[in-house]
Formats: sequence, structure tokens, C-alpha cells
Amino acid sequence: MNILGISCFYHDSAACLIKDGKIVAGSEEERFSRKKHDTGFPFNAIKYCLKEGEIDVDEIDYIAFYEKPLLKFERILSSHLETFPKSFRAFVGSMPSWLNEKLRVPSIIRKKLKYKGEIIFVEHHEAHAGSTFLVSPFNEAAILTIDGVGEWTTTSTGFGKGNDISIKKEIHFPHSLGLLYSTVTAYLGFRVNNDEYKVMGLASYGEPKYVKNFRKIIDVKKDGSFRLNMDYFVYHHKMRMPSEKFVKEFGPMRKKGGEITQRHKDIAASLQRIVEETIFQILRNLHKETKCDNLCMAGGVALNSVSNGKILDNTPFKNVFIQPASSDAGGSLGAAMYLYNSILGNKREYIMEDIYLGPGFNTDEIRSFLKGNNIKFKEFKDDNKLLKKAADLIHKNNIVGFYQGRMEWGPRALGNRSILANPCNPEMKDVVNKRVKHREPFRPFAPVVTYEDYMDYFEAKTQVPFMLFVYPVRKNKRKLIPAVTHVDGTGRLQTIRKDWNPRYYQIIKEFEKLSGVPVLLNTSFNIRGEPIVCTPEDAYRCMMGTGIDYMVIDRFLVAREDNPKDKWTSWEGN
Ligand SMILES: [Fe+2]
Repeated sequence: MNILGISCFYHDSAACLIKDGKIVAGSEEERFSRKKHDTGFPFNAIKYCLKEGEIDVDEIDYIAFYEKPLLKFERILSSHLETFPKSFRAFVGSMPSWLNEKLRVPSIIRKKLKYKGEIIFVEHHEAHAGSTFLVSPFNEAAILTIDGVGEWTTTSTGFGKGNDISIKKEIHFPHSLGLLYSTVTAYLGFRVNNDEYKVMGLASYGEPKYVKNFRKIIDVKKDGSFRLNMDYFVYHHKMRMPSEKFVKEFGPMRKKGGEITQRHKDIAASLQRIVEETIFQILRNLHKETKCDNLCMAGGVALNSVSNGKILDNTPFKNVFIQPASSDAGGSLGAAMYLYNSILGNKREYIMEDIYLGPGFNTDEIRSFLKGNNIKFKEFKDDNKLLKKAADLIHKNNIVGFYQGRMEWGPRALGNRSILANPCNPEMKDVVNKRVKHREPFRPFAPVVTYEDYMDYFEAKTQVPFMLFVYPVRKNKRKLIPAVTHVDGTGRLQTIRKDWNPRYYQIIKEFEKLSGVPVLLNTSFNIRGEPIVCTPEDAYRCMMGTGIDYMVIDRFLVAREDNPKDKWTSWEGN
């Protein structure tokens, strides 16, 4: 049975194909369209999924859509009506996209894909719940889904057993932890639905001095439910987020690109603290209700890796699984799995052990790309020699793009579309920033560490294959890996086992032989503002347009210096 899952028209459009309950392909549309967080119909991602699954449109048994547009429209209408006439302009502003796209999802799907079969609409938070529990290693688990908002729900808790998911409690719009986080993101001069993780990074530089102020805004009950005081917000009836009262409480808003002061850092730290407290309160109650030690989480707020790293210390849960494409992109996967397992009642057949679900290019294809574009490269018949060479280049403080196999699913690059650098060099964070990423200086870079050694380097409670948990770097190791140790002594690590990604593992082992340290700096292969590279051409263009020194691409080594920049330095015209 073939089920195509689709999420689109809000943020992070994506498609995912499951065959007999197993995921065969999944990708965000942005990777193809090269438009970050692309919200459009994921036509390219769907085309890719069908090609990877070797099926035509008429072989799709069902299409599963990740939410119920009519229900969502009802929420938009009713919240606008409640606040009319204040909401009039926002209402008029939002209507075209509803009338042109969101309410026409079935006809758009049919028309764009020439699809005649059934389309099933799964509720937004059911899709989030399905996206995590149904691909988790657990037969039974408590489930928390938490985001900005779906149709009405912003937070849901429930229980999964076998192929069944029952959602027990929901918190509804406008009371939303995700929208609280986004409001502060906007207040601090960053972009909503894009820069929330910057606020999380900034929080490490601040003191939680404003927690008291936030307690006026969010009321968390003993049972884990919470309510926002809506006097502090206007997102329920305007196109903006914080209200004047919010600004009065915290001081003037930071303008985009303006100076970041200690006050901004303290506000970020206070927000992070209050969000963590709220999540832990929800989770303690969820554990009490389910009496289950396993936890599955999804939704945008589940990407808060700082909070995730503290769950096991602050709640009774013993095991946590978080699906890496936790935001709405993962809704495509969740809708498909929920339909297959929970609605159609099929047994679960799949555990997500890796996330290399995107397009891949074989050695011949890459060789012909390189040759066809007169790119100078060196081919290595002996892969060990290539990985040794790459480790040596990294050890000598070169920045190396590492491109191989199928692209990652979700927002993190985990060794197939990565940029690798020397974590031992205290300058390296600034070097990578200046020459490649151009990120704000307050944002950390992440370490990847071999599975055998992660406990030696990090005070980690679990292995972290998907880079979703921040843990303290052990005090005696912080000086050894300064480029990946955040200001508060933590790191958002990835642990890598040989069988998960042998070449990625091997390059770290080779680096260890040279440096004594089984850790590398790993950041996604892209520059700021662009999606992670997908094709060999994307990767080559990224290298030539930045200060990446070398690229290991499949069995080939390409040096930036050996090649002329000319047409490759810009994305324009593509
Ligand atoms: Fe969501």
C-alpha cells in the first residue's frame, strides 16, 4: 500500500511516501525550490518521493494531508469575529491565501498531481503525534505534541499503544507556548517561524531576571494546563504579535538588526526558563496519568533542544524519542503513518533509525557532473585514503564540505550534507562564521562525537543520533573542544555509531588519530538564509561562493583553490 503524506501552505512544506508502513522517501520542498521554509505546494518533493518509490501517481492508494483546513478556517473566522472590528485589516489580509489555496486543498492536490484517489485529512496534532510515536522504538509511550497552533490545538497530551494513539487532553488557541516563544522572537527583532532557535541561543548569555514578568503572562496550573493573559498579545486579531502592554512590561522592542543588549539576553533567558518550567509541569502530569516511562514528542516546540536536554533530570520519564522533523514538515510523515497505522489499523512496520530519506546521487552521476562542468577534482579509489586526507585537512584548520549519499530529513545536517571543521581550534567558530555561515556571533556550532566516546565528553543522559538534545560538555573537556562549547558550557551534540553512517564515523576516527579528540564541528552545508544543499551542483556552488576550502563529495576531493569562481559564485539566475 502506497500512502503519500503532504504538508503545505503554512511553513516548511514537505512530502513523504510510505510503502506498506515503511518510509521510503521524505523531503522538504525548500531543498528543491531553494526557498527557505517554502510554504508552497510541495510539487518537487512529491515528484522526488514518487521517483524514489518507483511509482506513478495512479499507484498511490491514499494521500494524507496533515491538517483539516475547514476546521482551521473556523478558528480563523471565529477569532476574527470575537475581536471585530479590531481584527478587520488582519482578516482582509489573510483572506486571499485562504480563498486561493488553503480552502481548496483537495482540488489543488487533484489538479496539480492529476490524482483521482482518496484524500484523507488528519488533524494537525494527530499528525504530529503520529510523526513521533508511530516511528519511535516504543510499543507504549506517553505523547506530547506542542507547537504554535494547528486547527485549534496548540498542545496535546496522550498515549500511544501499538498502532493506536489516543489524545487525552488539549490546550486550544490562543493559549500557546509556541506563539509565546514566537512573540518574544518578534519582540527581540528576529523573524517569527524562522529565528526561534536564535532566541534559544541568546538565552545562554542572559540571566532569567524577567521570570516574574513572564509569570504575569502565563498561568501554569498544577495539572500542567496553562493560559496566556491575552492582554499581552495581539496575534489573535492582528498581523503583529506583542501588544503595547507587553512592550510596557519589558521595554522597547528591539529593531531588526539593532544592537543586542544584556536586557535582550535576559529576556531570552527568562523566556527559555518559563518555557522549560511549563513543559516539565506538563510532562510530570503526563507521566502521572500514563504511568509510562517512555515519552514521544513532536511539534515546533519539541525542537527546543536546550529544554529537551533537561527532560530526564526534571521529569520521571526514562526514555525520550523526538522525531527530527518535528515542525510542520514532519506533519506529512505523521499524516501518512497515522492513516496507515491508526486509521487503517495496520501493524507498525517501521522504526526511524536514520533520517537519510532525501535524494541521493551515485558516484557516476557525481563524476559526470564534475567532468561536465570542467571542475578539477581528484578521485580516490581507496576510500580510506580520502577520509584520512579529509581528516588531515580538517586538522590543519581547513573547512571541509562533506557530501555523500541521501540528503537528511528535517532541519539538521547529520553527516551527508555537512560542513566539518576542527573543534579544538578556539578560533574556528569565528572562522566558519566569517568565511561560510555569516551567522550572529552568539550562535553556537555543534559537535559530533563517536558513540563510544560521548559519555567521556558530555554529561549526556542518552545517545543523540538526531542532534535534538543539548547537554553540558564535561568540565575537563571544555578546553579541548572550544569551538563547539557554548558560552554556558553546553553543546548540541550528535552521537554517531559506525553502522549508522560508516564514512562520517570514520572521518571522526581519523581526526582522533591526529588530534586525540573523537569530535568534529558539524554544521549544515549551506550559508545563512539558504536551505541545506541538495544536489552536487548546490554543494559546489555553495563551496565556490563561500570560504569552504575543500569538498569531499562521494569518492572525490574538490579544492576551491583549484577551480575558477566565475559563474559559480552566485545563486542568481537559478
Ligand atoms: Fe504544528
